[in-house]
Amino acid sequence: MSRHRVAGLDELAEAGRKVVTVRGLEIGVFWLDGEVRAWRNVCPHAAAPVCLGTISGTALPSGVYEYSYGLERRVLRCPWHGWEFDLLTGASLADPGVRLKGYDVEIEGGDVFVVLPNRAARPGHASGTR
Ligand code: FES
Repeated sequence: MSRHRVAGLDELAEAGRKVVTVRGLEIGVFWLDGEVRAWRNVCPHAAAPVCLGTISGTALPSGVYEYSYGLERRVLRCPWHGWEFDLLTGASLADPGVRLKGYDVEIEGGDVFVVLPNRAARPGHASGTR
């Protein structure tokens, strides 16, 4: 695992979102009313930079002739084809089996860190094998 500082907590709370590059990966870091999530900036549909999409709520299931709006500031809408994802869980609203790729987040001393798994060892490049 490797831990990378990506933002100050106050900075993220004010901006709501920050897209960073860590070890060559673009990652969107989101403030959700006190919780922080980190998602890879690649849409599972066709690889758009999903973390640059609009953030809003969405229409909730409701009865005929009723309109119910909810999940305000929790829905990320992909800029290319409009797929919507729950920023708290990373799940697609239309198909919860489709998800954004997420990373662990740690908050310490007013700083936000993203934790990335170790890179997979490539054949012939394993450390300490000579
Ligand atoms: S690339 Fe995101 S919805 Fe198509």
